Amino acid sequence: MTMAGAGSNMGLMRPTHQIHPVCPARSGSPFNSAVLMRAFLPMSIASLLSIPILLHAALPVQMGAREQPARELRRIIRGPYLQLGTPNTITIRWRTDKPTSSLVRYGPALDRLIHAVNADGINRDHVIELSGLVPGTRYFYTIGSLEGVFGGGDENHFFITAPPPGLQKPTRIWVLGDSGTQNKSARSVRDAYDKFSIQRRADLWLMLGDNAYTSGKDSEYQGALFEMYPRTLRSTVLWPALGNHDARSANSTNQTGPYYDIFTLPAFGQAGGAPSGTEAFYSFDYANIHFICLDSAASDLSESGPTIEWLKRDLAANSRTWTVAFLHHPPYTRGGHDSDNDSDSDGIMRQVRENIVPIIEQGGVDVVLSGHSHNYERSFLLDGFHGSIEAFTDAHKRSRGDGRVFGDGPYVKFGAPPAPHAGTVYVVAGSSGKTHKFPKFKHPAMVTGINTLGSLVIDVCGSRLDATFLDDKGNHRDDFTIIKKLEIP
Ligand SMILES: [Fe+2]
Repeated sequence: MTMAGAGSNMGLMRPTHQIHPVCPARSGSPFNSAVLMRAFLPMSIASLLSIPILLHAALPVQMGAREQPARELRRIIRGPYLQLGTPNTITIRWRTDKPTSSLVRYGPALDRLIHAVNADGINRDHVIELSGLVPGTRYFYTIGSLEGVFGGGDENHFFITAPPPGLQKPTRIWVLGDSGTQNKSARSVRDAYDKFSIQRRADLWLMLGDNAYTSGKDSEYQGALFEMYPRTLRSTVLWPALGNHDARSANSTNQTGPYYDIFTLPAFGQAGGAPSGTEAFYSFDYANIHFICLDSAASDLSESGPTIEWLKRDLAANSRTWTVAFLHHPPYTRGGHDSDNDSDSDGIMRQVRENIVPIIEQGGVDVVLSGHSHNYERSFLLDGFHGSIEAFTDAHKRSRGDGRVFGDGPYVKFGAPPAPHAGTVYVVAGSSGKTHKFPKFKHPAMVTGINTLGSLVIDVCGSRLDATFLDDKGNHRDDFTIIKKLEIP
């Protein structure tokens, strides 16, 4: 849930044109995202980074002044972590051991933290929303109280605002599923990704649910999220989905419990997409990608229910080049869970397949990401498959190939996006914290199914999407590519 902080204002300068991206070579030729971000910005915005900015701050700030430590320094026991990033806003959150006032100072360089925003009241859980930010821009920040600085103010504490909506900017997405074990398996997946991404960090990251075992309690989130990924949390906006284990301590109807207390999510369309009116399911835009997060763990997925009603509205209004949906329960899996078994997970996977998938296909969703099964499975380019395994045929494949650049070749989707029924790839990536025993035969809708710890890395550049499943040893265990072409053959 969100507690709004006071925001400073400055005149926004919006780009008036899009600049075509230069796609980096995906492997063996990493690139620096900050340099690229600067390169894609119009000169008028980029130049803001090198000139003094005058604005109204919530508190008087002396430019370039070094903060003095608080006399009675409070200890940060959680965060800082970044939420709800948009081109012009971001939310910074943290927790202190004792209640204090809340203050964020930020600016374009470590010695130019020239803006300040504070929130009302004395709290242990601090929520500050920054507004009036320049799109596609790196800011550094400190967190603290009216008395002094508690943390930040170094090169590891920064954020980069989202680019202008629709801009075709190379974008990296890190995807973790069922990562909430707090154990060495989760650490090995994290460390493999950290090594892989050392020269090209993610622009945003997704969690596919079961983010904190066993019951999504606040103490479990402390270990599974905040003590597991502190470096990523303080510099990259996290967008989570609710899993069945998280839902044990959360109430999606009332949006209460640790999950809803911890995360600040866009219920009102403030990051793009149609307002859902709830943090349980939501959407947002990043560059030319539309993201949709569904709550399969605790929200009503019936055909006449609020999830479907909102999903239809959201997709009808979507015009981004790419659409990525994520939810905890997969429509197709034969791993740790069986999507054909109605006694497994209360039949939710059948509901997803029968009620959600047809809407997703009609809405032109490109990739659906799920967890729940603690393994990795990745489908063919599918359309029209809403039944059990016995009903699956090659007619449900929009392409019979494996989608691999060095295999059968990338999947190609034709028509102006989001083109309906042009095919969707379904990924089960629920092995970021543990694996399960895997059955002998994979689901026939899947190109591959492996019982290996890992996470998914997605790179989007213009009309091309590349995805790689990276295991806990740093090996690339699967990859697929989708290319979009406007013309219809
Ligand atoms: Fe689960």
